Amino acid sequence: MARVAVFSSGNGSNFQAIAEALQHQGTHSVAVMVCNRKEAYSFDRARNLGIPSYYLSYAGRERREVEAEIVAYLRQLRVDWVFLAGFMKLLSPLFLDAFPHRVVNIHPALLPLYPGTHGIKESYESGDAVCGVTVHYVDYGMDSGPIIRQFSFQRDPNDSLEQFEAKIHQLEHQAYPAVVMELLDSPAESGC
Ligand code: GRF
Repeated sequence: MARVAVFSSGNGSNFQAIAEALQHQGTHSVAVMVCNRKEAYSFDRARNLGIPSYYLSYAGRERREVEAEIVAYLRQLRVDWVFLAGFMKLLSPLFLDAFPHRVVNIHPALLPLYPGTHGIKESYESGDAVCGVTVHYVDYGMDSGPIIRQFSFQRDPNDSLEQFEAKIHQLEHQAYPAVVMELLDSPAESGC
């Protein structure tokens, strides 16, 4: 049974999708939701889901100090995997090396296209006929880690940006929990 942490900075809809999938499946669990913005809606979601949350404050502190604190806390919680879901801070090697091949992110575009914080808008404005989302391991770069799975759809050229964005999020909410489950259930994970 794996214990995971989900990192979010805002709305937290992907955090909720992962948490609900794990709660439904019943084997693995979300040990904590970590968030760096006090007013984030993901705290309300954590409360409603009965999942502990942790406020990670970067204000006036060195990143290495913040990361050392969260690594120690996650170790205390016996967390095996970290899933980033809209976490708006880059994690340094200090953090990533503490969880080798166990930090995963979802990006709202078909990487390597449109990395960075404006993936949805850039993907929409590209006019590409096929768009989608990417689940990938996190490495030292920005959205540059090895791709685990991609999910795509034919875009409707009549969609507004809002409609397009809704489709991306809908796809994320199916894709991310499915990949999380696949990773946690993989034979390598259970030692088979
Ligand atoms: C998602 O679109 C995700 O792909 C991106 O940030 C957004 C987070 O949304 N990395 P939410 O906070 O999970 O609702």
